[in-house]
Amino acid sequence: MTIYNLGSINADHFYAVPHLPGAGETLAAMTLATGLGGKGANQSVAAARAGADVVHIGAVGPDGGWAVDRLAQYGVGTERIARIGTPTGHAIICVDPAGENQIILYPGANCALTSDQLTVLDAAGPGDWLMLQNETNLQQEAAERARANGVKTAYSGAPFDVAAVQAMLPHTDLLLLNAVEARQLAQALGLVVGDLPVSQIVVTKGADGAEWHGTGSGETVSIPACPVVPVDTTGAGDTFAGYMVAGLSQGLVPEAALRLASAAAAIKVTRAGTADAIPARDEVDTFLAG
Ligand code: RIB
Ligand code: NA
Repeated sequence: MTIYNLGSINADHFYAVPHLPGAGETLAAMTLATGLGGKGANQSVAAARAGADVVHIGAVGPDGGWAVDRLAQYGVGTERIARIGTPTGHAIICVDPAGENQIILYPGANCALTSDQLTVLDAAGPGDWLMLQNETNLQQEAAERARANGVKTAYSGAPFDVAAVQAMLPHTDLLLLNAVEARQLAQALGLVVGDLPVSQIVVTKGADGAEWHGTGSGETVSIPACPVVPVDTTGAGDTFAGYMVAGLSQGLVPEAALRLASAAAAIKVTRAGTADAIPARDEVDTFLAG
């Protein structure tokens, strides 16, 4: 089984700030740290660390070789990452003392993907997954191509945009949203979350845990949150998504996959950074056993 991930790759620049900046404010940061990020790259690292076989489909610019090397070090397949002339995407991330963040995103190479990069999906088949988010182009084309081969699609509607998510629903098997996003989407469609037109939905609810809905069966599974003291929540949703899809692809039932994903995200939240802060599977298993 392979998890393909059409996803963004960013340089994340983390600035520790005394508070999140307001309009017109000039704010001095206490520290700067730079690491691998991008919702796609974070999800790929999470799925690979969970033990899945992962192929990342994406693009970096002339300044992005280090990011590809970092993905490879975490066990992510990087043969389908194009090196192009557009600069690598980056994110400017302010983190306050409570671990809350504010992000400015420059998409760069992430939105210059080309259809020829998707030919790898023609060799995919049932049991494989395609992960998608909102930080690249070509999501619908990739989803159609994958599903034509019996591949399931897992789509995180992040960064959230109600119109973008609505457009992706017909191409989605598993939808991943947080509670606020799920409510907004359901309201826009005049439905309750459990009736959204996809076969599976995962809703992360922060301190209230997470739930999975099988919309065909009407089945719902809820789990509580793992209590942790947050240091940096950036990338927690991506960690959850990567571990969740990896768990499902390994044959875990939804409740077990939710528990695995929720523990991985909880550990990530206790650490500063994004891809580099995602825990390995043995750490997550130890946390769950403890
Ligand atoms: O979800 C966190 C990610 O969002 C960061 O890594 C940043 O690059 C932005 O894409
Ligand atoms: Na996130």
